[in-house]
Amino acid sequence: MTIARIGVIGAGQMGAGIAHVAALAGKDVVLADVSVDLAGKGLAVVRKNLARQVEKGKVAAEAAEAALARIVPSGDVADFAGADLVVEAIVENEGVKRELFARLDGILKPGAILASNTSSISITRLGAATKRPENVIGMHFMNPVPVMQLVEVIRGIATSDETAGAVVAAAKEMGKVPVECRDFPGFVSNRVLMPMINEAVFAVHEGVATPEAVDTIMKLGMNHPMGPLTLADFIGLDTCLAILRVLHQGLGDDKYRPCPLLVQMVDAGWMGKKAGRGFHRYSAPGGEKVPA
Ligand code: CAA
Ligand code: NAD
Repeated sequence: MTIARIGVIGAGQMGAGIAHVAALAGKDVVLADVSVDLAGKGLAVVRKNLARQVEKGKVAAEAAEAALARIVPSGDVADFAGADLVVEAIVENEGVKRELFARLDGILKPGAILASNTSSISITRLGAATKRPENVIGMHFMNPVPVMQLVEVIRGIATSDETAGAVVAAAKEMGKVPVECRDFPGFVSNRVLMPMINEAVFAVHEGVATPEAVDTIMKLGMNHPMGPLTLADFIGLDTCLAILRVLHQGLGDDKYRPCPLLVQMVDAGWMGKKAGRGFHRYSAPGGEKVPA
């Protein structure tokens, strides 16, 4: 199956990045959100990131312009009717995703692939919300999408070889390295990453060290590009908490219990960089880190 037309639903940090790499790979993209205004905000992020790549000589100016022209913002999923592949990148909530998958199933043409960028949620259960579970798959990009090489590819129990083959080929066309894994909570990436982030939060919660100290220890001591709490802020603390809850419930082991401090920060609306406040402070929502 050839994938030429892609729909992306959810124009937040991940959806904008997915639209970016798909359009640069020559795909026609419809980028949708709950309103066309929000989709337009996602498109503005793509424009800014493409301009940065042009400035750094990574992408030719004409290629960036052509990519931008291939992305159409939308507030209506009916615009996905002609898509060969839809990548869902909305909030990390199973109920909301299942409802959307059922709706998209009624809109997409027969055989079109419905992929989720979920960080942790069962692909098998998302597939069961549709009448096309053989065409449902996990296509898990990493943040920031234009920079990170990996796409974790997750087959649900019913996903066909044809669907997996088409998604692996599309990921490669976008310049990514696809790696397949099985459909278990958090897959591999977040089953390994989130316990480290959660442990870093416990270290702060128990007064072992400040967020700054925890991050510096892991950056300079382990050569991580970002400390775990800066990374948690970057991912979004709401997303980290949602993933930990899926791990805790799905694997049934208390070692995945979310730290109470993480729960409290999400309750306060301190979602990390996108909110302007998390373990660190930012100049504005999505802005630069500033001293506390
Ligand atoms: N979009 C596009 N390009 C971006 C970008 C963005 N949002 N953010 C940074 N970049 C680019 C920069 O332009 C720069 O490009 P060049 O190399 O061409 O100059 C490059 O990335 C490096 O950026 P900086 O020099 O500004 O900053 P840095 O060296 O600190 O790198 C980083 C930034 C790449 C984000 C790096 O800190 C890093 O790798 N952090 C860890 C990221 C990570 O672990 N991601 C996975 C998160 S978990 C996940 O995604 C799964 C999940 O389900 C939660
Ligand atoms: P985000 O909060 O930046 O964006 C989510 C977007 O989805 C928002 O623009 C919101 O308006 C939109 N949305 C919510 N419900 C919707 C609906 N019913 N229909 C249409 N649009 C809707 O979130 P994000 O960080 O981009 O995460 C999106 C998905 O990607 C989540 O499943 C998350 O787990 C996954 N993911 C996140 C990261 C990360 O580092 N943040 C990495 C990999 C995967």
